[in-house]
Amino acid sequence: MLAAFSFVEMEAMAALRQINTDGKPINEDDEAYWRNVRQMFPLASDLIYMNNGTMGPSPYPVIEAVKNGMMEGDHHGGYGGWEHTAARIAGFVGADEDEIALTHNVTEGINIGCRGLPLKRGDEVILTTHEHVGNAFPWLNRQKQDGIVLRTFTPASTAAKTLNRIAGLINRKTRAIAIPHIPCTQGQVLPVKEICTLARDKGLYSIIDGAHGPGMLMLDLHDMGCDTYASCSHKWMLGPKGTGFLYVRSDFQQILQPLFVGGGSDNAKWDMTVQPAKMGKYAQGAHRYYGGTQSLGLYKGVSAAIDFMETIGMQNVHNRIKALGTYTQNSLLQLGDKIELLTPVEEKSRCAITGFRVKGVAYTDVYESLLKKNIRVRSVPENGVNCLRVSTHIYNNKTEIDKLVEAVREFI
Ligand SMILES: Cc1ncc(COP(=O)(O)O)c(C=O)c1O
Repeated sequence: MLAAFSFVEMEAMAALRQINTDGKPINEDDEAYWRNVRQMFPLASDLIYMNNGTMGPSPYPVIEAVKNGMMEGDHHGGYGGWEHTAARIAGFVGADEDEIALTHNVTEGINIGCRGLPLKRGDEVILTTHEHVGNAFPWLNRQKQDGIVLRTFTPASTAAKTLNRIAGLINRKTRAIAIPHIPCTQGQVLPVKEICTLARDKGLYSIIDGAHGPGMLMLDLHDMGCDTYASCSHKWMLGPKGTGFLYVRSDFQQILQPLFVGGGSDNAKWDMTVQPAKMGKYAQGAHRYYGGTQSLGLYKGVSAAIDFMETIGMQNVHNRIKALGTYTQNSLLQLGDKIELLTPVEEKSRCAITGFRVKGVAYTDVYESLLKKNIRVRSVPENGVNCLRVSTHIYNNKTEIDKLVEAVREFI
């Protein structure tokens, strides 16, 4: 049983705050500082956890906030309170509060974006060959049910070439580009701003799977120019599991149809006693895309996760994440020709997720061997990519990466 938020963690948190009130940028290599950060996580000390891309462990203040949020609701027996988190999320990702719909995960946001688009039989949508099931299946389902056509491209080794591949797929039937900001397979950072500009210029919708953006990259969704961006707080934001959000650009809310509605997504003017029954209107803003009860505790936890990130400073978090990612990629490449790095080496196309294979060795064998050494990465069987994925966050360090590289060296 874990004791939540002991004296040691409180001291560590105070140290993080103290350092930041001095206003100095934190060096991404200041190991003493980042050791303090690691103390804030209940992660087992003998576990080398490098699977943040699946699940970002929460630090103690987030866990405490979830518990306190539940206590608050259950003490007073009140309803609501979770909606306030939309403003915090908006501030964190560069959006307005009324552009944020609260969801439970990325998949839910993608389904809302996908289902609500006015598409007809024969309309084409562009995706990658590197989709997570959460972005593939909603569109495949519309292909099956509505007869839309999916066109795919494989991300290229540079942002410019990737953009060209997308441009080459656009024709008069294309209606939307529905791609991940960062594919779950090898972590390539796609040039989403340029892709959204291309979409706008061609009159296409841009529907982004943003599972890996918030908490890894500095985000400004207004600047990015996408129509929708679906994400979660349980990966890079290190928030409670089962909390997500969908950004829907303000002007786009006239186009994207709300298909999943209920309490809160209307203007409270519906009436079932008149004939015909009267609907009223959709709620102002993105609340029209979700309805019903949410968890106060979990959303208090999301706000606490944003507090935690902002205490360290999102730019500092990003710099540390980027430095560890680069260190992972470069260290693996130093193992020689047998390493096949799937993540591009182009600086702007890589960050905290690394995909690689060892030539001539089954990725599953490497995965099993790492697991035996208590090194947790992810194997990627999707669409025959067949690689290993390493995803590190601020609680990791270079010593852990060195141990990973030594473990991989056994296969060289
Ligand atoms: C790129 C990508 N999209 C979508 C998802 C689905 O996320 P969720 O489980 O929160 O619905 C994931 C999960 O790993 C992902 O990596």
